[in-house]
Parts: sequence; structure tokens; C-alpha cells
Amino acid sequence: MKDRIKLHDKVFKPLIPGDEIEKSIDAVAAKMNADYKDTDTVPVLLCVLNGSILFTAELMKRLDFDVDLMSIKLSSYRGTSSTGAVHMDMGLTGDITGKEVIIVEDIVDTGRTIEALVKILYARKASKVKVCTLLLKPEMYKKTIGLDYVAMEIPNDFIVGFGLDYDGLGRNYKDIYILDTDTKL
Ligand code: IMP
Ligand code: MG
Repeated sequence: MKDRIKLHDKVFKPLIPGDEIEKSIDAVAAKMNADYKDTDTVPVLLCVLNGSILFTAELMKRLDFDVDLMSIKLSSYRGTSSTGAVHMDMGLTGDITGKEVIIVEDIVDTGRTIEALVKILYARKASKVKVCTLLLKPEMYKKTIGLDYVAMEIPNDFIVGFGLDYDGLGRNYKDIYILDTDTKL
């Protein structure tokens, strides 16, 4: 893990090492495997691009029931804060009519994205929608939509790494870093 990373005009310091992230994904996958052990439905695993690419890949490897992988691309962040408006950059890659959908998100912050997405999925006739997120900022989340699978909770600060970005950069790190306002450039 690097001591500090610099992306655009900001410095970030270590928060969660990669092996800890992987352990939390083991636990979420085990819970999901237990929940789907005896079902013969094939749920749609919906990767929310771009942030969830790494999480979806790591989660999928650990699942021992059949899933139908689909993607959608949403965005709401500019820089280090939410714009409040959720934009669909790319629509669903498949038909979800009558299907159970498990949303795979990188992070739930205010919950606006997840709320908008759940609405979209029911409008597209999903039979059931569940939410799985790698990270949750519990201090920020005020929505009522149930979060079925949460791998880790973090403080209300801006983070990057393991799929998450700051204006496009930082997604490739295997560890998670948090904004460091003390270190000057
Ligand atoms: P929400 O709509 O406020 O819940 O924000 C969710 C989306 O904002 C996530 O899918 C991320 O793309 C982005 N986001 C929220 N917090 C962070 C962060 O700390 N770092 C990077 N992206 C974030
Ligand atoms: Mg995202």
C-alpha cells in the first residue's frame, strides 16, 4: 500500500488495505450463497459502471449459484461531491422483465443513486430488486430502501481506489485511500 497517492490536485492516504477488502467480500459472498442456496431462480447481477467493476468481479468469483451478469452506467458525482442529479450514461444491457435483480454498487452515500436505480428497475418490470454494496457511509444515508448486503461501513469522507475515482482517476488501486487534507502538495 502506498503511503500517499496524488490524483489531479488532491492527496490521499491509506484507509483500507486490499486484503481487508477481500475478506469483507468473502463475508458478503458467503451470505449471498447461503441466501440463494435452494433457489432455482437465476438472478441478474447488475454491475453499476464504472465504480463497481472490481467489486462485481471479485464478488462473482465467489458465488456458487447461477447469475446473469448485466450492466448499467450511472453518474452523479463531479469532483468530490454529489451533484444531486442522477444521470443514466448507458442503459441496461439486457431484459430484466420478470427477473430478480441484485444491484452491485461500489458505494452508497446519500442513497440518491440507489433510489433512482431501484425505480428504473421496477419500471423495467423487475420482479424483485436487492441491493449489494461494497461500501456504505451510514452518516449520509437517509433513504428507506433496504440495503441487503453491505461489505463495509466507512466515515463520511471522500475515498478512492478499488473501482472508486476522483474525476476519473484512482480506480485501479487495489487498496482504498481517503482524502488527506493535511499533506500539502
Ligand atoms: P449517492 O447517490 O450519494 O448515494 O452516491 C453514490 C455514487 O456516488 C456512487 O456510486 C459513487 O459513484 C459516487 N460516490 C459517492 N461517494 C464517493 C466517494 O467517497 N468516492 C468516490 N465516489 C463516490
Ligand atoms: Mg458508482
